[in-house]
Amino acid sequence: MLARALGARIRPHLTAARIAPATLPGCDGLRLFLLNDDFPHDALSPDEMNWALNEPSYWMFCWASGLAQARQILAQPELVRGRTVLDFGTGSGVVAIAAALAGAAHVVACDIDPVSLESTAANAVLNGVHLDLSGDFFDLDERFDVLFAADVLYDPANRGLLPAFLDRADQVWLADSRVKGLTAPDYAKTDTVLSETRPDLNEFDEFRHVNIYHGQRSGISGHAC
Ligand SMILES: C[S@@+](CC[C@H](N)C(=O)[O-])C[C@H]1O[C@@H](n2cnc3c(N)ncnc32)[C@H](O)[C@@H]1O
Repeated sequence: MLARALGARIRPHLTAARIAPATLPGCDGLRLFLLNDDFPHDALSPDEMNWALNEPSYWMFCWASGLAQARQILAQPELVRGRTVLDFGTGSGVVAIAAALAGAAHVVACDIDPVSLESTAANAVLNGVHLDLSGDFFDLDERFDVLFAADVLYDPANRGLLPAFLDRADQVWLADSRVKGLTAPDYAKTDTVLSETRPDLNEFDEFRHVNIYHGQRSGISGHAC
């Protein structure tokens, strides 16, 4: 039912597409409604290609960075347990759902794409967790213990939000495979991990190397990991 409703969002644009539940590797059984694995990406018509490029439905995929961040959270639940969490640019909701499964006290999933929020709501039901949803970071008036943002730095405007993330949360975790050599005050790279986009987009190998950055205002002491 939920998969069919989400499928109806994309089928006018991608006629052969289906949305189906998929279990993410290395995520303790976390499942998402995603584009069917056997979708024939190389056989898109010009109209379909135009839609896919110009109005991307990011929520149809779990991006390599989101998968890496979900794994990070599930492997280190102490990062979020009992804490308030914001997932900026939630897409399918993967990171928000991982935080809820790992015991976060309250999780808000934020995305400017209203269909992404529909997909996140459906995925929360699929995983039996509760999330609050927001369509605008700047409408949020609460402060969070931890803010996550996976694969959002491709948009230069979002890079400009890095200081605002630190105004909004004590700890910030970024995961990104697209921007190389990110440097920003109060952010430091902590790791590079291998991951992959689901379903597989056959992206270049470089996009499977996800950099993890931790952000914290100078003067605030250590993070729990
Ligand atoms: C590439 S997807 C990543 C989704 C998810 N974090 C993941 O890794 O699978 C980027 C998402 O960020 C959202 N986004 C981009 N800019 C945003 C903004 N300024 N505020 C909220 N969401 C934003 C997009 O709509 C999209 O759903």
